[in-house]
Amino acid sequence: MTEFRRVDALPPYAFAEVERLKLELRRSGEDVIDLGFGNPDVAPPEVAVEKLREAALLPRNHRYSSSRGLPNLRAAASELYRDRYGVELDPETEITMSLGAKEGLVHLLWVLLGPGDVALVPSPSYPIHLFAPGFAGAAVQRVPALDFVAGVEEAWEASQPRPRVLLCSFPHNPTTAVADREQLQRLVDFARERQLVLVHDFAYADLGFDGYRPPSIFEAEGAKEVAVELYSLTKGFSLAGWRIAFVAGRADVVGALARLKSYLDYGSFQPLQIAATVALREARDRPAEVAAVYEGRRNALCDGLSRAGWDVARPQATMFVWARIPTGELAQDFAVRLLREAHVAVSPGSGFGADGEGYVRFALVENEQRIAQAVRGIRKALAQPT
Ligand SMILES: Cc1ncc(COP(=O)(O)O)c(C=O)c1O
Repeated sequence: MTEFRRVDALPPYAFAEVERLKLELRRSGEDVIDLGFGNPDVAPPEVAVEKLREAALLPRNHRYSSSRGLPNLRAAASELYRDRYGVELDPETEITMSLGAKEGLVHLLWVLLGPGDVALVPSPSYPIHLFAPGFAGAAVQRVPALDFVAGVEEAWEASQPRPRVLLCSFPHNPTTAVADREQLQRLVDFARERQLVLVHDFAYADLGFDGYRPPSIFEAEGAKEVAVELYSLTKGFSLAGWRIAFVAGRADVVGALARLKSYLDYGSFQPLQIAATVALREARDRPAEVAAVYEGRRNALCDGLSRAGWDVARPQATMFVWARIPTGELAQDFAVRLLREAHVAVSPGSGFGADGEGYVRFALVENEQRIAQAVRGIRKALAQPT
């Protein structure tokens, strides 16, 4: 049998059983409320979609584009950072485009790590955070996601050889943990002292609730000397399918990634880049509106579950609710039971690494009425003996 070493080493897809059962129920005509996959459902900014249509009509926009991103697009990202965070980023040397934060992260870790290296990674985690170092031949030293800043030092001490990369992500998927500026400063200082490259996945930059605005890593002093940050249009601008994000910050790291990517791709379809530029410049209010939609859903879910006797932590950010399983069942068993008995799909916490056992993650990707319907089903399922 042919060996596929890189993919054979990956564990079986942890969400597969829930996905299979969900499709089976739907095929048999059941109405399943899908709060599993965090696939944004909020409408994209109209002004950007209009621009996309217009740009797609021009033949010249169908040629190869640039893997670094059009100069105007990088300039628009730089303007966003300046206006929102008071941070200056040179669009020529300190910003490069990626095909979503996910692709950017994988290739960034390819550039930063090699066989024998170690990366510090939060656990549980968005799965690719735990697997991307392995694609580069490197190992992962896990850091508890819910106590990340305090846990980093211990994880560093425990790691042999010493880690080269510190990966972090606030607001965090799946735990919804957030970090304040002082905590980010501690991570930056730690990275500087230990000569680590700090990688901050800022995919949920735009999704803060109750007036909370997640800080950028570059609001910490000296961050640009040690850190790169990934900012994506997926969540805040609800443009998941467009695959447009940026890797910004430390110039030598950004330059090395841009060099690698010049060998790998030609960037997103040019009309998407042009329209994304318009989104960043002309739809600046959109992320706050999108966040308000998720906030309403968070309220519907957390309040509803609480009335059903399941008290869950109320997230300050992201598009998720990370809930401790109230019955003591294993995450996979509980997720399957919710699907069978309540017709609600959720992600078992164990799919985000062993440290996610005991939890499920709700993605807030159905409207408030559907969430209320989900809660009614869950209330009944919780009342059943297990
Ligand atoms: C932490 C984190 N990073 C990156 C991504 C993917 O973002 P993008 O669509 O920009 O690749 C997600 C999506 O769920 C995520 O949760």
